[in-house]
Amino acid sequence: MATTTSNPPRGARSGAERVDAHDKVRGATRYAADDARAGLLHAALVPSRIARGSVARIDTGAAERVRGVRKVYTHQNIGAFESGGFLMGGGFGFQSFYPLRSAQIAYRGQTVAMVVADTLEAAREAAALVEVRYEAQPFVAGIDAPDAQPQAQSALLPQPMFADRRVGDAEAALAAAAFTVEARYELPIQHQNPMEIIATVAEWNEGVLTVREPTQNAEGVRHGLAKQLGIEPARVRVLSPTLGGGFGQKNSLQSHTAAVAIAARELGRPVKLVLTRAQLFHNASFRPASRHHVRLGADREGRLVAAVHDIDQQTSRHDLFPSSGSEITSRLYGVKHFLGRDRLVRTDVQTPGYMRAPFEHPAAFAFESAVDEMAYLLGRDPVAFRLANDTAADPLTGKPFSSRHLAECLVQGSEAFGWARRDMAPGSMRAADGSRVGWGVAVGAYKAAMAPAFATVRLAGDGRVRVAVGGHEMGQGMRTAIALTVSRVLGAPVAAVEIALGDTGAAPQHLTAGSWGTATALPPVQEAAQRLMEDLRTHAPGAGANATALELLRASGRAQAEAESRRRAPGQPEQVYGRLTGGLPAAAGPVYPDYVGFSFIAHFVEVRIEPTTRRIRVPRVVSVADCGAVASPRTARSQVEGGVVWGIGAALREASEVDPRHGGFLNADLAEYVLPVAADIGRIEVGFVGKPDTRFNALGAKGLGEVAMVGVAPAIVNAVFHATGKRLRRLPLRLEDLLD
Ligand code: MOS
Repeated sequence: MATTTSNPPRGARSGAERVDAHDKVRGATRYAADDARAGLLHAALVPSRIARGSVARIDTGAAERVRGVRKVYTHQNIGAFESGGFLMGGGFGFQSFYPLRSAQIAYRGQTVAMVVADTLEAAREAAALVEVRYEAQPFVAGIDAPDAQPQAQSALLPQPMFADRRVGDAEAALAAAAFTVEARYELPIQHQNPMEIIATVAEWNEGVLTVREPTQNAEGVRHGLAKQLGIEPARVRVLSPTLGGGFGQKNSLQSHTAAVAIAARELGRPVKLVLTRAQLFHNASFRPASRHHVRLGADREGRLVAAVHDIDQQTSRHDLFPSSGSEITSRLYGVKHFLGRDRLVRTDVQTPGYMRAPFEHPAAFAFESAVDEMAYLLGRDPVAFRLANDTAADPLTGKPFSSRHLAECLVQGSEAFGWARRDMAPGSMRAADGSRVGWGVAVGAYKAAMAPAFATVRLAGDGRVRVAVGGHEMGQGMRTAIALTVSRVLGAPVAAVEIALGDTGAAPQHLTAGSWGTATALPPVQEAAQRLMEDLRTHAPGAGANATALELLRASGRAQAEAESRRRAPGQPEQVYGRLTGGLPAAAGPVYPDYVGFSFIAHFVEVRIEPTTRRIRVPRVVSVADCGAVASPRTARSQVEGGVVWGIGAALREASEVDPRHGGFLNADLAEYVLPVAADIGRIEVGFVGKPDTRFNALGAKGLGEVAMVGVAPAIVNAVFHATGKRLRRLPLRLEDLLD
């Protein structure tokens, strides 16, 4: 990737290196799938070939005869086990449906049998020999199927957080507006493809189950498994110290984990299951397809006066995965009359779920495309139009923002990009090779959330600092941010700081998602480290003011010292710690008692469109984020670069193709699910406003991982309009969309 730092915008310093970098590049980092403990058995799944119905007959004879096969589990012989429930319904799983509990088939690719064998080869060979006869039922393939029936989310889920977003009278204000824009936008199903595939290793020792599985939610997996297996949570430990990417796909109990644990218990050996890439497409959550209808109204002075954002989002037949796209589109501008409504469409798939900026990326694509259309209708520069419609207070609640520097993002980004040189007229810019050139802008927002966490910081006489806190390292840089914080407070070398994350034996492990990881883990870690320093100073009264923690410890003559802290989000009651220790989601935001919290970003994009083939390139992106204080400059910049790459993928490459005849996904591998590669990525310049949000927490950090992606796709599509005069409203863009 050709990322330049030659002329970085303000705030983009290189910063300290990642604390886990050396282990990663040397291959020393151990992932669950690397586990090769003695006595390990290997599991392989048998997927359903139909999309809905039941197993009529299953013949495992041929599979059982494969040498090395220990057992073939089906719904008939695995024994009873409980549902782990659905994350959004008081449970622990990405869906409420757990295969092998009955003959029912709810989606294509669902597990109908699991083989356990001495070797992976034997397990996979045997899995292919399991013969299944099905009883098929009609199914709904996708969001646009003729028999798909959208239903109002507010009626399906009558809770305030899933209700319509309504302020003023948007319909009346639209009818009275001098200028209106109305458009429909389509986004496909997408599957996140972390480099690390989901893998589970289950082992029993004297009635205690240890599960090694990459998860963003070790506590949820622990409590979900305890419920499924009917054992005390104290008898389950889940370890997820490092993930090779999470992105929401690993945010909850997977539907196969209990089956692996059951096999390990019965066979008296540790069992490992590694899903295949194709099974990941069919057995883990994904970004649902969505359809957006946006209507905007503006007055003659160029003020947005009304907006209506209607969203249809796909869900499964067995669960309601709620949509909340207008949570951000209602806050991007000071629109006094806003209406946001969501409808859910039941389809026969595994339950879709969270994928980096799950609702915010689709919603911003639709809304920020429409805003660009409005700017052109009014003849206003798209940056100036956005600045003129900025707001200091949250239009929905009337509360102030904890901090909001979106205007700085736009101004700083314009300067770094050279936006002032842009000619407004579409088709007005050409490159030397004849390519059409377009410059586009769009903004994004993402809620600033926070969850409860416990932290312990312990200093030993040898200088080792051990930190335990709730949080999961998914590659986003949480360990680095924690190490830098502890090192700064204690005056200890970064290398001396050891950090236990994702270990239910070390500290309660709240789900790490929703970009709340840093704002959740860092404040209690910082406070525990500060308390440790205070304690050390009390015991070493003669020490100098600049003494490090280790100097103080040695002066006091003690062998070790330890301090703790627990923090929760503003406005959360004490009982929220019970949800944390019970493995249930306990995050707060964006609405707090005294303010509303969001991170913001502005993206500036150049596209080049080759005149014959219409091939679209993105040679240059400038992104400036307002995420409050930057806790770890290097990993923060890397988060934004990753978000921009995701946005390029979303705009130009990624779509999961549904098979309308049989259900499931046709391009379930990395050859046909097309992702951007290094050659697709040009210069990405990242800047940060860098103003700490100390109203939000003592560190001043909001969130970054997801806002980074929000608005990239519309900036690209707006740039394509600027290059060609064509408004494209369906992602991903295809070359044929640009043929005249
Ligand atoms: Mo994320 S999609 O909140 O893991």
